[in-house]
Parts: sequence; structure tokens; C-alpha cells
Amino acid sequence: MISDFADGFWRARAESTNASIRWTDATMLELDITMVESQLRGGDALLDLGCGTGDLFLPLLHRLGSVTAVDMIPEFLGRIPADPKITTVQSNVVEFSPSVPFDLAVMFGVVTHLSLEQETAAYRVLRTAAPAGTVIVKNQCGRDADVDVDRWSEAFASRYVGRYPHVSRQAARLAEVFGSVEVVPYPDAMNKWPDSLHVAFICH
Ligand SMILES: C[S@@+](CC[C@H](N)C(=O)[O-])C[C@H]1O[C@@H](n2cnc3c(N)ncnc32)[C@H](O)[C@@H]1O
Repeated sequence: MISDFADGFWRARAESTNASIRWTDATMLELDITMVESQLRGGDALLDLGCGTGDLFLPLLHRLGSVTAVDMIPEFLGRIPADPKITTVQSNVVEFSPSVPFDLAVMFGVVTHLSLEQETAAYRVLRTAAPAGTVIVKNQCGRDADVDVDRWSEAFASRYVGRYPHVSRQAARLAEVFGSVEVVPYPDAMNKWPDSLHVAFICH
């Protein structure tokens, strides 16, 4: 199952890194942060599902009221600097149970590592977490079809398994959970492979 691979993959990444786990270039991180920032109103309560080492929200902390940062890998959470605004939670994204409403909930780069059933379950978690707020889901998508990746990765020097859902099918699944879904493709220059593209889905 894809999530079993993801578990081993991210545990290995925890051992092979000691700081940020991002491997994309600075431009991608900048675009991701700008995407999150575009939906902030200031003082917001943010939920980051699958937060990794917190790279998406740390530069925006001054504009946030609070952050709940959720990841399954405790080592990643341990690399997030202690701050009274930040609460870290070790949990699988599909098992996270929000106890307060969030203004903005984001899940970046995680769908790639979830089965179809987990993907839909994660959307329900996001909807429950931000019942009247905004949700951003961002990941790599298949351009014309679902793309299942299982290949040797030079970047990681390991096998890499991932699921890039067809962009329209992912949008349709999100539309089953959210009232509106805006599809925002990232610039072409960011897309390394001809059959896939990075997409953010902004949901209300
Ligand atoms: C590509 S990284 C993205 C990290 C962060 N969102 C960012 O954009 O910098 C994917 C993250 O999702 C986490 N992850 C993957 N599957 C997960 C799951 N089922 N439950 C919780 N975390 C998960 C991994 O541990 C990893 O930190």
C-alpha cells in the first residue's frame, strides 16, 4: 500500500536529514508560501496537515494568531522551533481530530503519499477543521490521467513511489466535500515532468 511506502520513505528521510525536509528549489517554496499567504487575513488560526519541518508557515508566523502543525514523523515536528503560537501534533492526517475551528487549513505535498481512500478521508478532516474557513490542498497532479510513480529517484538516491491524481478527478473529489473548488496551476517552469503539474486547489 502507498502509505506503507510513505511511512518508510519519510522515516528514512528523518534519518538522512537534520534540518528542512524540502528538496524543491527556493522558487517552489516561495510560490507555496505566497499561495498560503494569499488566503491569510491576519491573526488567523492555521492548521498545517502534513507540515514536515514547518517551512510553509514559519515565514508567515508574524501574520498568524496560532498554528497547529500535524505530521506523522516526530523528528520533523521536533525541528520546528518552539514558539507559543505553535502546537505540534504527531498524527496520521486521516486520524487527526480537530478540537477547535481553524480559519485556514492547508495540506501541501501529502496527497502524493495517500491512497485514494485516505485522500478523501483527509479532505473530510480538512472540512471539519475549517468548517467556515478556507482550505488549500496542493500537490503534483497528472496532466491527462492519474499518474502512479514508482521509480528510482536521483534526488533521494532511493526508490520513490507516489500518486499524482488527474487534476480534474482530484478537483471532482474535492467538490464532493467542499462547496467551491478553484483550481490554480503553478507556472509551467515549475513542472519538471511532461505528464504532471503542480496544482493548488483553493476550497471553501
Ligand atoms: C512533501 S512533504 C511536505 C511537507 C510540508 N507540507 C511542506 O510543504 O513543506 C510531505 C509530508 O507529509 C507527511 N505525511 C505523509 N503522509 C502522511 C500521513 N498519512 N499522515 C501524516 N503525515 C504524512 C510526511 O511525513 C512529510 O512531512
